[in-house]
Amino acid sequence: MNPTDDTPGLAVVLGGTGGIGAALADGLRQQGHTVLAIGRRTAPALDYADDSTVAAVAQFVSAELDRTGLPLRRLVVATGILHEGAVQPERSWTHLDAAALQRLFLVNTIGPALVMRHCLPLLPRKGRSVAAFISARVGSIGDNRLGGWYGYRASKAALNQLVHTAAIELARRCPQALCVALHPGTVDTALSQPFAKTGLEVRPPTVAAQELLQVMDTLPEGSNGGFFDHHGTTVPW
Ligand SMILES: NC(=O)c1ccc[n+]([C@@H]2O[C@H](COP(=O)([O-])OP(=O)(O)OC[C@H]3O[C@@H](n4cnc5c(N)ncnc54)[C@H](OP(=O)(O)O)[C@@H]3O)[C@@H](O)[C@H]2O)c1
Repeated sequence: MNPTDDTPGLAVVLGGTGGIGAALADGLRQQGHTVLAIGRRTAPALDYADDSTVAAVAQFVSAELDRTGLPLRRLVVATGILHEGAVQPERSWTHLDAAALQRLFLVNTIGPALVMRHCLPLLPRKGRSVAAFISARVGSIGDNRLGGWYGYRASKAALNQLVHTAAIELARRCPQALCVALHPGTVDTALSQPFAKTGLEVRPPTVAAQELLQVMDTLPEGSNGGFFDHHGTTVPW
C-alpha cells in the first residue's frame, strides 16, 4: 500500500448528531467515506456520563472495520459543552463551582481521553488517517486576553495537552496518522447561540464542516500533535 494513501474509508464522527458533528458527517459522506455518526441517542450511543459506552462504541467500530474491510481514515470527535442547564460559562472566579467544573471536564476532556484509549488503536498502521478532536481557540493559554469562561477554557486546554501527548504515542505505531486539535471558528449551533455576539464571524455548520474537512485533507507531514484553526493556521497553545 502507498504510505500516503488517503482514499475514502470508514469515517467515525462522535458527537455526530450535534451541530458541527452532523455537518461533518454529511461532508464526509459526500467525500465518499462510509460514515458512522454517533451521538447520545444513536445505536450504539455514546454518553460520557457512562464510560462503558466509549468502549462499546469502539467495539462497534472495530466490528464495522472487520465487516467492511475498510480502513478507519477519519475519527472526528465533535462532542463538547460550553453550557448545560445550570452549568454556564463563568464571568468571574466568584462563579467557580465544583460540580460545573467536573461536568465540563467530564465532557470536554475525560470523555475524549477515553476515546483516545479505545479508538486510536483502530487507526490503520499504514496509509494516511486523521484523528481530529474539535477543541476551541479559547482553550489557548497564549491567546487568552479576555479572561472568563474558566471551566471551558481549562477543559479545552487539557484536551489539547491530551491530543499532543496521544499524537506522540500514535506516531510510533501509525507513522502516517495525524492526531490534531482543531478550532472550528464560531459556528451557529446550540452551543454558541446564547453567546454569539455581533461582530464575531458566525458561520453555518455546513461552511465550518467544509473548512474543517479541507484542513484534515491537506494537513502536511509534521502536523501530528498540532492545534489548528479552520483555515489550517496553527493556534498557539
Ligand atoms: N459552535 C461553536 O461556535 C464552537 C466554537 C468553538 C469550538 N466548538 C466546539 O465544537 C464542538 C461541537 O460543538 P457544536 O457547536 O456542534 O455544539 P452542539 O451542537 O451542542 O453539539 C455538541 C455535541 O456534543 C455531544 N455531547 C454533549 N454532551 C455529551 C456527553 N455527555 N456525552 C457524549 N456526547 C455529548 C452532543 O451529543 P448529542 O448530539 O447526543 O446531544 C452533541 O453531539 C464542541 O467540542 C465545541 O466545544 C464549537
